[in-house]
Amino acid sequence: MDWTHVHLLLNHFPTVGMIVALGVFLYGLAVNSDEVKRISLVAFFFIALLSIPTFVTGTAAELALSKTPEVSVTRVQAHETAAFIALWFMELTGAVSWLGLWQYRRLSRMPQATLIVVLLAGLASFGMMARASNLGGEIRHPEIRSGPKVADPPVDAAAAANAKEPLARVIGDAMVNVTWTWAASETVHFIGLSLLFGVVLLVDLRMLGFVKGIPYTVLHRLLPWGLLGFGLNVITGMLFFVGAPIGFYVTNNLFFWKMALILVAGANALYFTAFDQPWTLEAGDAPPLAAKFAAASGIALWLGVLFCGQMLPFFGHSF
Ligand code: HEM
Repeated sequence: MDWTHVHLLLNHFPTVGMIVALGVFLYGLAVNSDEVKRISLVAFFFIALLSIPTFVTGTAAELALSKTPEVSVTRVQAHETAAFIALWFMELTGAVSWLGLWQYRRLSRMPQATLIVVLLAGLASFGMMARASNLGGEIRHPEIRSGPKVADPPVDAAAAANAKEPLARVIGDAMVNVTWTWAASETVHFIGLSLLFGVVLLVDLRMLGFVKGIPYTVLHRLLPWGLLGFGLNVITGMLFFVGAPIGFYVTNNLFFWKMALILVAGANALYFTAFDQPWTLEAGDAPPLAAKFAAASGIALWLGVLFCGQMLPFFGHSF
């Protein structure tokens, strides 16, 4: 199995998953059930997380197919640009969905404005992901193409070289060639990392039984700062990725471990907002076993993410 298999495995989640999540969300609105709405917000958040490795493994698939003459570079690039745009709408949907879950805890209701943004961003993400997926399908399936349903002619190297640069590559070139972009993104990446890991440590240490004097409801106020840090790191991390996807990242297995750990760590962080258990912790209360387990694994997972990121230059020879 290689990363192309993983791309083929993941790439229906952002479309099929969104049909299910949007259906549950609309049902929740129709029956006015906060529980059903919360389930759909959790699903949106998961799909936003899954869309990151879907995008990254797509680039690995592109590399694997780059020597296959019957695969049209133009089609792959059109698919890549559509996926790149869709990814940002999906991440926005995931972030606002998380905010809705957090607001529900703080206010005991979901503000109308949040639900409207989730609906609009969710519909836009679905439309764009569906378009990206359709273009992805057309790479290998002439039968679903809107024009003549025939296989592409073998790729002409000169035409491939003159093909329009995909959006991700244009931004990636700016990351590499404009002097300050990489350094500025590194700075923001480290600020994001500090925000994220700082909040993770505070919340998780409380859940492990330290600083028992602080009730969980107080620590919960810090969570949006952690999400802000995570968001900054997703944005800058993707900018690094499109800057040098092949040289630095998709050829290094440690990078895929980092992606996998981010996925599980992101899901782990959801426990502290979506589940009721942490909310029972008043000042002085000892945390339940499940909360301790979630906290210990949260710290270990985020440390794993930091380790994999930090070690990229040393294992696999990135940079
Ligand atoms: C979230 C983003 C993405 C989604 C939802 C997505 C979705 C899809 C889908 C549905 C297919 C068709 C699978 C099939 O034929 O059964 C596909 C194939 C493909 N995608 Fe993506 N994709 C994404 C990102 C990317 C990116 C960034 C690239 C980089 C260029 C890429 C490269 C490819 C390639 C090369 C194939 C053909 C694989 C093969 O048939 O061997 N994808 N994608």
